[in-house]
Amino acid sequence: MKKLFLALVVLAVALAGCGKEEAKEEKLLIYAGLMEDHAAMAVKEFEKETGIKTEFVRMSSGETLARVRAEKDNMSASVWYGGPVDAFVAADEEGLIEAYKSPVAEKIPANFKDADGTWTGIYVGYLGFVGNKSVLEEIGAEMPKSWEDLLKPEYTGEVVTAHPGSSGTAYTMLSTVVQLMGEQEGMEYMQKLNKQVRQYTKSGTAPGRMVGLGEAGVGITFLHDAIKYRKEGYKDIIIAAPAEGTGFEIGAVALLKNGPDSENAKKFIDWALSKKAQEMGQTVGSYQFLTNSEAVPPKEAMEIKDTKLIDYDFEWAGLNRRRLIEEFSRVSKTTAPTK
Ligand code: F6P
Repeated sequence: MKKLFLALVVLAVALAGCGKEEAKEEKLLIYAGLMEDHAAMAVKEFEKETGIKTEFVRMSSGETLARVRAEKDNMSASVWYGGPVDAFVAADEEGLIEAYKSPVAEKIPANFKDADGTWTGIYVGYLGFVGNKSVLEEIGAEMPKSWEDLLKPEYTGEVVTAHPGSSGTAYTMLSTVVQLMGEQEGMEYMQKLNKQVRQYTKSGTAPGRMVGLGEAGVGITFLHDAIKYRKEGYKDIIIAAPAEGTGFEIGAVALLKNGPDSENAKKFIDWALSKKAQEMGQTVGSYQFLTNSEAVPPKEAMEIKDTKLIDYDFEWAGLNRRRLIEEFSRVSKTTAPTK
């Protein structure tokens, strides 16, 4: 009888153990910096092709950087997928990224990847201006055509941009202005621009939507996002690129150091670099240029292919990120919004 009782106890403990195993099914967690609908589709497709259960959290660049800093000794995600590479460079400097040279990275030209495999580019986006035709007509203003134009009195209170502390798009803007004008003049420019700004948003895609809705006349954004909103029905949207030249992003993917699932993370990175995965973005309105030399870029991107670009220095931008944002916050007397 005693033996039977013991056997039952052992069985009960074993069954309870099994239940626990089932309850905490492991999932590959990804911090995603590209559009929500793009990340959702990518994760679904990857899961369908590989059977690896995958989840994502969409965050702007600065938020992801803050999260991985905070999780340094207890990383919950294994992959950082999308968002301008500047923040990846900053994270690598702080020991938060594990180099991984994917075999698929052979298809990515050298200027779109880190030589040591710290990050690899998945797309390229150009920074520019988005305007609302009707609002501009109402206020009697033309579409701005240069960084200098944005300082004209007719745009006072009409400009929306994200905050460089939270958004990779806005950090690209800050770093572009500084790289174009030099640090002192660039910060003076940002101080003047601050007087024109109606609102600093958290995410870099928000200004395009706000301008599309007529809530402001002009926004600073990645041009592919403005094209997406126009195509989705915000018909008053017009776009322009600054005559002095503009900065651009390389959207990257990287392996997070000490993430819980490096093996599946590497499989995801291989997948994200493939022609097939890169070409999928355009089916949900992601119109960036692509980095895989075999991938066909979206036809929507052709409209901006002749944009005048500066020789944007990603390494410098990443290594100076914290300092430039602090200086920006000081001259503009603003902090990054949390909502
Ligand atoms: O299309 C979405 C996108 O503009 C990407 O191209 C870019 O990498 C990312 O969003 C930047 O987002 P945020 O400015 O919010 O960090």
